[in-house]
Amino acid sequence: MNQNNNLLYKLYELIKLNRLLSIRIKFMGIVVLMVLLLGYSNHYVITKNLSNLIEEQLLQHARSLGENLSAIVADPVLTNNLYELHNIIDRTIRDDIHVRYIFILDTNNNIVVSSLPEQLPKGLREINETVNNEISIKRLQTDEGIIWDLAAPIADGLAGTLRIAITDEYRVLGIKQVTKNIIISSFVIMFISLILAYLLTRLLTKSLFTLYNFTKQLGQGKYDILIKPDIWAGKEINSLNSAFYEMVKNLKTLREKEENAQKARKNLLQKTINAQEDERKRIARELHDEANQHLAAINYGLDNLRHINDIDRIKAEAQELKVLVKEASDSLRALAWELRPKLLDEFGLVLAMKKYLEYLRVQYGLMISFTSNVDSIPVPHTHKISIYRIVQEALINIIKHANAKKIEVAIQKSKENIIITIDDDGIGFDHYDKESLGIYGMHERATLIGGKLNINSNVGEGTTVLLSLEINVEEIE
Ligand SMILES: Nc1ncnc2c1ncn2[C@@H]1O[C@H](COP(=O)(O)OP(=O)(O)O)[C@@H](O)[C@H]1O
Ligand SMILES: [Mg+2]
Repeated sequence: MNQNNNLLYKLYELIKLNRLLSIRIKFMGIVVLMVLLLGYSNHYVITKNLSNLIEEQLLQHARSLGENLSAIVADPVLTNNLYELHNIIDRTIRDDIHVRYIFILDTNNNIVVSSLPEQLPKGLREINETVNNEISIKRLQTDEGIIWDLAAPIADGLAGTLRIAITDEYRVLGIKQVTKNIIISSFVIMFISLILAYLLTRLLTKSLFTLYNFTKQLGQGKYDILIKPDIWAGKEINSLNSAFYEMVKNLKTLREKEENAQKARKNLLQKTINAQEDERKRIARELHDEANQHLAAINYGLDNLRHINDIDRIKAEAQELKVLVKEASDSLRALAWELRPKLLDEFGLVLAMKKYLEYLRVQYGLMISFTSNVDSIPVPHTHKISIYRIVQEALINIIKHANAKKIEVAIQKSKENIIITIDDDGIGFDHYDKESLGIYGMHERATLIGGKLNINSNVGEGTTVLLSLEINVEEIE
């Protein structure tokens, strides 16, 4: 557990270090690591092969030397010519740098001659012997390093045994030399690679720093940034630069658009407030002009009635007053219809629309047809109000501007969406005052509920308002 924690802590430290180190240091560290790894693996493979090769050659050499020498010494041994034997051994040792020692044993294992000035080291005599009159080679680990001791029969063993030792010294020396060369070349390569890595990372970080500075400026709202193409930077960096430049340009236009939209919104808000005020004034005027006038007339009529004695005249006056009451009630009702579609709460959207259309039909004497393939529209309640207002605005526009004879309203529901069309055969229009809020409001409302509004109109060809909504089952209350 503790060890685990320790390990985790070390890992954490490493990550922290990683974050602190610059790309340059990391990159150069990787270069050093790679060169070292390459040098080490090269060294391993080369010395291993070289060592095997040298060993093989040394053994070959030992074997042929043994065979030759045992043939040469056979005669002097048999004739006990010690002088000749010493000569041969001395010459061999002098001429062959690989030979460490030579001695000859007679058939009783007594030393006949030896190149070693002192006594044979203990156990050396017994350590190797011919096997079935064949040459035998033993690998000995001594204080001086590895030695190959060779025992060769002289005159088929009849004259004793020749012993020669070949040292490993030259193999070790060769390997040392190779190792030295590899280390030197690795350092040279490392030095060159480090310079290259330094230059490359400089190139990289320079571009990154430029981008970093630009980003900082961007953060401070400075969009007029000029990024010059860098001939030293690579293709990728230059692509990054131009992508960045493109982004800044887009940001700039986006910002400008956003600012314009902000202005437009502010403008619109002011207009909406004004429109609200106008609407209030209109309602007040309507109440005053229509209902109040009627009520005043009724009041006057009732006053008048008190002074009339003739029952027939009273009846006639009452009849007239009734008409006035009806007119007053009509104008109040019209106002109420516009202000709040209370039927929406009571009957739902489809029925409320139907009732509203009936009211318009009676009120304005229009030919209005209504078709729907559903009884209710599956959208949230707040959406229903928006839909109702859009339809209402379209209809009021027809009454106000279109001079139409026929209006067709249709609700078409399919699996995925609902399409509501309001079609008139009025005068149509090809442009309109963008300052007016009706159509703008229709679009806004449609967008707010995730729908799409299309108004198709041509002068003299009537107008079609088309509202389409996707049905999203999850949204329905
Ligand atoms: N159904 C229609 N037929 C003819 N003209 C229309 C129709 N609907 C809208 N318009 C024209 O579009 C203009 C803008 O309409 P709108 O934004 O609702 O503003 P408003 O109704 O207050 O004038 C109207 O003034 C009118 O000229
Ligand atoms: Mg309008």
